[in-house]
Amino acid sequence: MHKKINEIKKIEKPPKVLKNLFSNEEIDEFLKLYKNLPTTVHNKKQNVIKKRWLQGYSEKLEKLFCERLRNEIGEFKMDNLQDEDGKDIYGLMQESYNPIGLHVDAGFNFENLIYRQTLIPLTSVGSTVIFKNRFYGGSTNFTIDPNELGEKKLNYGQNKRSSEHIGMFGDSPFNKEHYDKYLKHEKIENLKGLEIEFVYEWELGSMLIFDRTNLHCSSSKIDGKKIGLTTFTKK
Ligand SMILES: [Fe+2]
Repeated sequence: MHKKINEIKKIEKPPKVLKNLFSNEEIDEFLKLYKNLPTTVHNKKQNVIKKRWLQGYSEKLEKLFCERLRNEIGEFKMDNLQDEDGKDIYGLMQESYNPIGLHVDAGFNFENLIYRQTLIPLTSVGSTVIFKNRFYGGSTNFTIDPNELGEKKLNYGQNKRSSEHIGMFGDSPFNKEHYDKYLKHEKIENLKGLEIEFVYEWELGSMLIFDRTNLHCSSSKIDGKKIGLTTFTKK
């Protein structure tokens, strides 16, 4: 559990979308950056490619991103893992052909005052579901799949797997209409007690900002592949 829960709660806010934050040229630069970065993970089974946004590949984008985010959320620090050379990683770029399951990106250090996270779509089709429900432990993938739960060996920076969310938010079954519309890729039992706060429809040039404590996942809306860039902040 996070130690600064009270402070974390005090600075929580609803999710927010900034439209037209990046120009088409800037989105192209982010895509170029994505192409140039080395691959960290290529999970062929899940068809996911993950790349870390390493420092030094595009100082222009690093500066531009931080300035625009600061304008919106005030002072922050990046809450990121470090690469092999001890340099901060700016964020994670993920290319996927399948929706990403229910999780929280609350971080790995319980001393931190976790703050907001951002999502920048780099492809135009997709959507992300943010739940009202919040979690104050570490970064976790929420699942009731026994095989996934049995996965005990985690690499540096990998989310733990847990079903501890079941029962944490009450026992009401998840709204069937919302399930059919957005979340068919999840097991409905895995969504027990959850309520949707907001569905972000991906739009190039926009950016979603939400709290590190919000449970979230991809919606089932996907057309071929999606590429998204996420970053994580702390105070
Ligand atoms: Fe996430």
